[in-house]
Amino acid sequence: MKDVRTGTRSQWQRKRVFIRTYGCQMNVYDSDRMADVLRPLGYALSENPEQADLVVLNTCHIREKASEKVYSELGRLRDLKAERRRVGADLVIAVAGCVAQAEGEEIIRRQPAVDIVVGPQAYHRLPELLARAARATDARRADGRRRPGPGVLDTEFPAESKFDHLPAPSDVRAGSAFVSIQEGCDKFCTFCVVPYTRGAEYSRPATSILQEARALAAAGAIEITLLGQNVNAYHGEAPATAGSTWTLARLIRALAEIDGLARIRYTTSHPRDMDDDLIAAHGDVPQLMPYLHLPVQSGSDRVLEAMNRGHGRDHFRRLVDRLRHISPDIALSSDFIVGFPGESDADFDDTMRLVEEVGFASAFSFKYSRRPGTPGAALDDQVAESTKTARLAALQSLLGRQQRDFNASKIGATVPVLFAGAGRRPGQILGKSPWLQSVFVEGNADMIGRLATVRLLAAHPLSLAGEIATGGLPARAGGPFGVAA
Ligand code: SAH
Ligand code: SF4
Ligand code: F3S
Repeated sequence: MKDVRTGTRSQWQRKRVFIRTYGCQMNVYDSDRMADVLRPLGYALSENPEQADLVVLNTCHIREKASEKVYSELGRLRDLKAERRRVGADLVIAVAGCVAQAEGEEIIRRQPAVDIVVGPQAYHRLPELLARAARATDARRADGRRRPGPGVLDTEFPAESKFDHLPAPSDVRAGSAFVSIQEGCDKFCTFCVVPYTRGAEYSRPATSILQEARALAAAGAIEITLLGQNVNAYHGEAPATAGSTWTLARLIRALAEIDGLARIRYTTSHPRDMDDDLIAAHGDVPQLMPYLHLPVQSGSDRVLEAMNRGHGRDHFRRLVDRLRHISPDIALSSDFIVGFPGESDADFDDTMRLVEEVGFASAFSFKYSRRPGTPGAALDDQVAESTKTARLAALQSLLGRQQRDFNASKIGATVPVLFAGAGRRPGQILGKSPWLQSVFVEGNADMIGRLATVRLLAAHPLSLAGEIATGGLPARAGGPFGVAA
C-alpha cells in the first residue's frame, strides 16, 4: 500500500476518517452516527489523524477548558494539513459538536485551515458539506491559491429532525449500545450553554426508538442506555395513537419487552422531571438498572434558585427517599458545581450537608466556568478561583470517600457483570456491575459482550475485583438481570 500522505493511492482504496470525541455521551452517540453517514461515501475509520483524509473534531463547549482544547488540537491539524499540501495531497478538517454550534464562523477566523464547521443538528448533511468543501478546494487550486479559503458552515437548526435522516446504528460494542431519544434543552440553567448549542427540546417518536432498539438487540445488544440532555423530560409521539405521547417510563416499559435486552439505563435526568411512573419503574421493571444519575448541582436553595434549576434541596431529598423506598439498593450519582456566582461559605456548607445526608455512589464535580452568553457570566459576584479550588477539593474528598464506602459495601455480593473489554493486565477482563461499577476478573476475551455472575472480592477506590462464580456464564440474556438461573 502506498503512503496515504503522498495522495497517490488508487481510486479503489478507501478513504479514512478520524473522529475525536469530546464531551458527553450525546457526542459519543453522534460520532458513531457521523461514521455511519460517512461509510457509504467510502470512509473507513482511522485510529489517528496521521492516516486520515478527513478529521472530525466532535467538540464540547460546556466548560472553558473543554472548548479551548479544540483550538490547540486545530493548531496541530493545521500543521499536518500544511505538510500534506506540500506533497500535493490534502487533509480535510471538520469541526462538529457544541463548539461548532456556539462559535460558528469564529472558528474559521481563528483557524483558517478548518474546512467545515457543522452543528449537532446538521450531521445528516455532512455528505453535502464535504462536497461543497471539495469544490471550494478545487476552485482555490484552479486559481493557484495555496492558502486555505473560507470554510463551509452549517449551524442551522433544521426543521427536519436529524433522526429521520441519519442511518440506523449498526454496531454494538461489547453488548452495549446507546440510543439517543431526546435532544436539546429548554431549561436554561443560568450556567449552561446546552440550550444554545443543542437547541430546543425535541423527543424522538417512540416507534423509531423501538425499531432501533429491536435492531440493536438483534445485533447482540444486551444493554441499552437511553440518552438525552434531559432524558426524563422525554415526551415522544406514541406508536399508532395519533396525538398522544409517551413518557420515559412508558417507553422503558415497552423496551423491557424486547427479547434479549437485559439491561436498560438512561441518562441524564433532571430532578424536576422524575415523575411518579418513572420512580415506580425503578421498582417494577427488572431490566431497569438500580442506578440513577440525577444532577443536583448544589445543596443551597439560594444557589439553586440563582441557577434557575426550578427546584429546591427538599425536592431532591424527597426524590431520593422515594427512589430508595421503591428500590432500596439504587445507587445514586450526581453532578455538582462549586463557586457559582454569589455562592457563600454557608451555601457551600449546604451542598456538603446534602452530600452527607444523601450518600452518593459516584459523582462528577466541577468548578463553575463562566460561559459567554449565559446569564451566569454576566453576574458580578463571581467567586475567586482560590475559593473554588478549596471548595472543589473538600467536596471531592467527601464524594471520593462515599464512592469507596459504596464499593466496599458490595464486597461479598454475587452480581451479574456485563463484560466490556480487556483489563489492564493480561488475562484480565473488565465489566460493569448493575450499579455501573467497574469490575475486574480473570477471564477470557470471549466473555466480552456477555453477562456473567461474579462474586465481588475486594474494593479499590474506582473499581472492584471479583471472580466468576461457578456456572456463571449464561448462554444469553434472560431472567431479571439477564442471568440464567
Ligand atoms: N442536563 C444535565 C446536565 C448536562 S451538562 C442536567 O441538567 O443536569 C453536564 C454537567 O456539566 C452539569 O450537570 C453541570 O454539573 C456541568 N456544567 C454545566 N455547565 C457548567 C459550567 N458553566 N461550569 C461548570 N460546570 C458546568
Ligand atoms: Fe444545561 Fe440545565 Fe439544560 Fe441540564 S437542564 S442541559 S444543566 S440548561
Ligand atoms: Fe458538551 Fe455539548 Fe455535551 S457542550 S457536555 S458536548 S451537549
